[in-house]
Amino acid sequence: RGEAGPSGAALFKLHCAGCHPDGGNTVNLRRTLKAADRAAYGIRTAADVAAFIRNPGVGMPSFTAGMIPPCEAKKIGRYVVETFR
Ligand code: HEM
Repeated sequence: RGEAGPSGAALFKLHCAGCHPDGGNTVNLRRTLKAADRAAYGIRTAADVAAFIRNPGVGMPSFTAGMIPPCEAKKIGRYVVETFR
């Protein structure tokens, strides 16, 4: 789609995969990135994922817009919902 910058996959690998390898969760095993687990917490859309990273729960660092700008958060969100079903 001609978007500039790194892909959602590359951004996920850089910022998220340390704790969420293959969409899992090595810190809190109950909260993987799979659709069923996310849905239990109302995290369904790419926008929901992008919002969650700003203000996550216990054990996950919050990512400010300085660290991950909105356009990158959107790409990560899209990657998560398209990849982890
Ligand atoms: C939860 C995404 C980085 C640790 C979650 C959830 C999402 C998410 C969508 C909710 C899962 C659910 O409800 O089943 C992301 C993304 C990241 C990222 C997109 C990168 C931008 C990290 C990192 C860590 C981490 C680096 C560890 C240092 C956790 C933990 C939870 C969680 C512990 C559970 C939080 C809670 O119980 O409220 N993550 N994550 N995440 N993530 Fe991440």
